[in-house]
Amino acid sequence: MPTSARVSTDNLIRYGGEFADVLVERAEGSWLTTEDGRRILDFTSGQMCATLGHGHPAILDAMRDAGDRVVHLFSGFLSRDVTELARELMAILPAPLARAMFLSTGAEANEAALRLAKLHTGGHEVLAFAGSWHGMTAGAAASTYSAGRRGYGPAMPGTMVLPTPNPYRCPIAHCRDRCDLTCLDAGMALADAQSVGAPAAVIAEPILSVGGIVPLPEGYLARLQEHSRERGMLLVLDEAQTALGRVGALFAFERHGVTPDVLTLSKTLGGGLPLSATVTTDAIEGDAAAKGFLHFTSHVSDPLPAAVGRAVLQTVLADELPARAATFGARLRAGLEQLQLRHEPIGDVRGEGLMLGVDLVTDRETRTPAERYGAAVTARCLELGLNVNIVKFPALGSVLRIAPPLTIAPEEIDLGLEILDRALTDCR
Ligand SMILES: Cc1ncc(COP(=O)(O)O)c(C=O)c1O
Repeated sequence: MPTSARVSTDNLIRYGGEFADVLVERAEGSWLTTEDGRRILDFTSGQMCATLGHGHPAILDAMRDAGDRVVHLFSGFLSRDVTELARELMAILPAPLARAMFLSTGAEANEAALRLAKLHTGGHEVLAFAGSWHGMTAGAAASTYSAGRRGYGPAMPGTMVLPTPNPYRCPIAHCRDRCDLTCLDAGMALADAQSVGAPAAVIAEPILSVGGIVPLPEGYLARLQEHSRERGMLLVLDEAQTALGRVGALFAFERHGVTPDVLTLSKTLGGGLPLSATVTTDAIEGDAAAKGFLHFTSHVSDPLPAAVGRAVLQTVLADELPARAATFGARLRAGLEQLQLRHEPIGDVRGEGLMLGVDLVTDRETRTPAERYGAAVTARCLELGLNVNIVKFPALGSVLRIAPPLTIAPEEIDLGLEILDRALTDCR
């Protein structure tokens, strides 16, 4: 949306295209309220973080309580909330994952993961998907292929790309609507050809988000782990968006029967506050520590975000939010599939739990991304009071990302569907 006199941006750096033409004054549950009193249903959970909804009492209480005790410390000091958050996380993660460090953003958690992998393996080569987004710090950005590569100078040496296994848009024009994993084997063969013999890691999202809401096909992750092991690479899973209930399970990797060597958590761990975690095994941590692993930041192990992380974890478990995401995700998905029956541009509906994608196409046979239509639909949704986000890159599609808070009420899901229906019609 173009900015107007209502929103003065003259003193701001434009970091990601246009700003929305509203100033948000309050956010509660699934709703935003603008300064001029408009209400907007938030189908993106903020920046995919607010899985508990906005202003959840458990988060606010944890912030107040931590604020009264301790907010920030010298990075070598620990607080009870940090040691307890680590313990509580390990209680819900499978062995051999055993140790965590707490940082602020997803990019930082991936940066730490890749640095651990490099130190542990002695290599520096890192593979990531063509549709990946792992963050904007140098190492994470070097393994982010969906956007932002041009104009910033050389990426890290040794970064290599794997085809995104999207059955709706097969990256090697081999399959249609299924994936027989040929793209993975072909991608690994190309990586082998490029390798200078210094493998370190493969980093992957279990459901690519910016890549167009692409759940990894059945069997893919297990085969990727086999390939990684054969080459002495660590498997790093980035569950920034997928962890802690969003996909109908605590972690997306559970469905694949694969435990990563390094797991990164971010967005959903802080529920809207900056908190991320890099998690690994005793063996990898022990080796890295022996080699002098250094990843000191100003906010590593900060007490306040850790207290919030504990509140998020406790709420996710006590309120059974994974089950809620499965139930309400099924309702939302059924509604989107109904829309697909009536709206020709909806080529595909996919995703898991409450992380769903609607792939918009100019026609269902060629599957050409309907970029202008998608942009118009999201703008119209916002006018009508619904915030949905679109990813639109020519190679990845024009995909509405739908990820409301896991605490959303069924009537709010139905209202969101109604607004989307109207926007899809109005923009034809
Ligand atoms: C899968 C994934 N990893 C990492 C990041 C980066 O997280 P942050 O923006 O907190 O650095 C994102 C952000 O969108 C993401 O979607």
